[in-house]
Amino acid sequence: MDTEEKIQAHVLSVWRERREFFGGRGREGMLILTNKRLMFVKKTEAGMKWWGAVRTRQIVRLLRSKDVMFTEDGYDEESLRTDAENKANQEITFNNILDIRFEEKVWGSVLFLEILENTKKRKYQFSIVQDWVKYPLSAPTKYMNMGTVYAVGVGPGSPNYITETVKKIIIDSDIVVGYKYTLSTISTLTQNKEVYEITMENQEKTYQKIHQELGDKILVIPFTGDVNFSESEVVDRLIEIFGDVKIISGISSIQVAASKAKIPLDKSKIITMHVSTSIEEKKIELQKALIDGYNVILIPRPWPNEPQKHFMPSEVAFYLKKNGFDTPKIPVHVFESLTNGKEFSDLCVMVFGQATLESYINFE
Ligand SMILES: C[S@@+](CC[C@H](N)C(=O)[O-])C[C@H]1O[C@@H](n2cnc3c(N)ncnc32)[C@H](O)[C@@H]1O
Repeated sequence: MDTEEKIQAHVLSVWRERREFFGGRGREGMLILTNKRLMFVKKTEAGMKWWGAVRTRQIVRLLRSKDVMFTEDGYDEESLRTDAENKANQEITFNNILDIRFEEKVWGSVLFLEILENTKKRKYQFSIVQDWVKYPLSAPTKYMNMGTVYAVGVGPGSPNYITETVKKIIIDSDIVVGYKYTLSTISTLTQNKEVYEITMENQEKTYQKIHQELGDKILVIPFTGDVNFSESEVVDRLIEIFGDVKIISGISSIQVAASKAKIPLDKSKIITMHVSTSIEEKKIELQKALIDGYNVILIPRPWPNEPQKHFMPSEVAFYLKKNGFDTPKIPVHVFESLTNGKEFSDLCVMVFGQATLESYINFE
């Protein structure tokens, strides 16, 4: 470095990431622009105390203005020269910059650089997250979770049951990942999106891939009906993978079935057999609810490949009969393809309507 080098801009708490697969984990450091070069300094001789004070000052200043062209007291060209000798720090000469781009995001600002490094082209992204309040080496959470992930309920099949809130989220999203039937419900809203159709077999791989590449994009995972009903095996996995998942409810098939059967949900036992674990206890629960006179709304379990796990309406009727229930006397509706009139044998809800009308007139 020659003596004429002058620091022009100095930004702390910058998060650097390689923009390729297997680019390694990100690093926090200072980005320093001089009239000769760009330096990314992750190991500095400047003390932690200095760092802490200057970083707080910077947060306040960046909230007021996006202008990063300032220098910091207590760190001068001499300090830079010392840090530049440390091989852990990255020097980028202007000649090696192939492409440079800047983007404003909701969470902060990003500088994208493509540079020549030992004859290899490399892509980097340097980000400043405005509201980091802690030294982010151990907790750059805001940055790591830049993208937004929504798990939304899109109703039981007809587009008429998609709420306005969910519609808006889908329209504003970049990536949509879902099962075939659920995707078909929202197909008019996903025309210009990156859409992934998944199956139970390949969903894990797809979620992992998207997690790697999400960046600051908006991902929506639509669920049939309400996302809060009988979907937790997948929703819980999404939370494990993505961390913060925003859950937006939808209209459930059990609500539509309850309306069609005219039974109140609060006088009903709701049982889903649609789980991959054992349902033996749930079967006992069903017997008990029927004996106690409750309405029961039951989601059967389609498992055509394993007949002993398959528990659809005819298996349910057979099971109850075997256990001493007078099945012809039990009032039961089976609602198939509740909202769009097509027939899907695994798309059905059973409603055992046992409770009688009980209006407030009776209690006056
Ligand atoms: C994994 S559960 C998901 C339930 C969903 N989250 C909900 O709130 O409706 C899937 C089951 O819901 C029921 N279901 C969903 N949509 C339906 C529809 N349009 N008609 C009938 N049953 C439906 C079927 O029993 C189906 O096998």
